[in-house]
Amino acid sequence: PSDIDFVGRELFKYQESWYGNKMLQAILNFQRGFEPQDTDIIIASFPKAGTTWLKALTVGVTRPVALLERSKHSSDAHPLRLDNPHNLVPFFELDLYAKSSKPDMTNFSSTPRVFATHVPLHTLQEALKNSSCKIVYVWRNVKDVLVSYWYFKSALMKVEAERSLLESMFESFCRGVSYGGPFWEHVLSYWRGSLEDSKNVLFLKYEDLKTEPRVQLKRLAKFLDCPFTVEEEENGSVEEILELCSLRNLKNLEINKIGITSRGVDHKNFFRKGEVGDSKNYLTPEMEKRIDMITEDKFGGSGLKF
Ligand code: A3P
Repeated sequence: PSDIDFVGRELFKYQESWYGNKMLQAILNFQRGFEPQDTDIIIASFPKAGTTWLKALTVGVTRPVALLERSKHSSDAHPLRLDNPHNLVPFFELDLYAKSSKPDMTNFSSTPRVFATHVPLHTLQEALKNSSCKIVYVWRNVKDVLVSYWYFKSALMKVEAERSLLESMFESFCRGVSYGGPFWEHVLSYWRGSLEDSKNVLFLKYEDLKTEPRVQLKRLAKFLDCPFTVEEEENGSVEEILELCSLRNLKNLEINKIGITSRGVDHKNFFRKGEVGDSKNYLTPEMEKRIDMITEDKFGGSGLKF
């Protein structure tokens, strides 16, 4: 089946989610061709749910803490000071398999390899072929995701964020017709996966990362088998990584102000406000009510709460 999204683009349904034609090809290539390693880490998310932040935090906890001490001017400085999280952690379907059905993986010299994806868990699992990769998922309030997406799309199109686009995106979202959508089924796929296999699927929430970053970072590090030592906890390493990965810090790094990702997106577009509840300023009470009702309907009984 096919449908039209908010910018009039034709999307195709594959394994219960929607994708553009090129993306679908990339996903098929990924599912067929990826050779997973048990040490791989995969960051998964619905677009605009906090992917960039989680990529940064994952790079932060999996690289030696000692790198934090290096000057940002040295060539072996911390990778997050030298490059954007999206270049350090490429997406399977947007970067690696979008360019080639056999992408060159030799760049991933460091172990563990860290990748990302916006596809739901069942689609990802087909590519992982029963290997025991670690999957970390981040989700976020759907209303903030929608508003963030609206700003992001407008920035990509190099236009002001106009209400007419927000309104058509809202309609598409409610119908579930957007890249990787429906949003709710996407979240539920990983939620169920984390309940069934908590050793390999970690389920994080953007809002929790905002309110208790220390607790959530330690959870992430433990899950990835690189827990902070007592000494590291006492000497401020947890805070140092959080500070390095903070929106303010990443946004102000020169590389993120001027650089572009390998697929041509300005790095700066990934950093906006990073607030919880910003959608209140843009959605009408009617829009909020309608999307809240869908959320209640879809998440009711699953144990998931906003
Ligand atoms: P807003 O548009 O609400 O500000 P993604 O990384 O999945 O594309 O999501 C982008 C959203 O995450 C944007 O939200 C962006 O500002 C926010 N974000 C990016 N980096 C962040 C960070 N280091 N800390 C907190 N939020 C961050």
